[in-house]
Amino acid sequence: MNTPRLGVNIDHIATLRNARGVDYPCPVKGALICEKAGADGITLHLREDRRHIKDGDVYAIKQAISIPMNLEMAVTDEMLSIAQNVRPDWVCLVPEKREEVTTEGGLDVVNNAKLPNFIKDLQNAGIKVSLFIDPDIAQITKAIELSADAIEIHTGAFATAWLDDKHLASVELDRIKIATTFAKDNAPHLIVNAGHGLTTDNVALIAQIEGIHELNIGHSIIADSVFLGLDGAVRAMREAFFKVSKC
Ligand code: PXP
Repeated sequence: MNTPRLGVNIDHIATLRNARGVDYPCPVKGALICEKAGADGITLHLREDRRHIKDGDVYAIKQAISIPMNLEMAVTDEMLSIAQNVRPDWVCLVPEKREEVTTEGGLDVVNNAKLPNFIKDLQNAGIKVSLFIDPDIAQITKAIELSADAIEIHTGAFATAWLDDKHLASVELDRIKIATTFAKDNAPHLIVNAGHGLTTDNVALIAQIEGIHELNIGHSIIADSVFLGLDGAVRAMREAFFKVSKC
């Protein structure tokens, strides 16, 4: 069976901290607990409005962890210069709207004139670049043309459908499978990751897709940590990869 790596997104440790304007819970401490619990990478999203992760967290986490860091960010000049300073192992480029609750939908890489140079600038700084895109053949074709190192397939539509429409969830699951196969057939070197909205209930269906390299999971792990502890929640997520599931 395909066993993807687990990247833990720790943004919502910072959400909890910022809710009270205090200095706990500490995202650095959280990242280290995830690492010890077997996470293969730490993901964090520095949003333009700094609603959760702050600039200082990015630098401190980079210093503290021994596993790869994946910095999610928008395609802006400000973020480019932060990434060039921090030098994360990976940058994942995402769309960003101030009013959204979370990252709704993938980046439109087909219609973004800024992307070719932006990707080159990051790669020239020794940073590998992933593009967060919908499971769409035109988007994947463009990502290959742009020489991205990876794509991350947005699983949000699948995860939303999973909650109350299992037929639609199976349609969305098929889109993700077709997209993954298309990417691997057309660019065997391209890394195919996935993430968004994954929980211990729905993750197995994505984790068991042949060709998926890594899953980036945040909100549900931090939510589960309220009851299981962060270490327990990371371990429970990993175990859930192996569940027998169907839509
Ligand atoms: N991958 C990307 C690119 C994201 O933007 C997010 C949300 O920040 C995630 C994965 C994780 O999504 P969730 O918090 O729903 O697990």
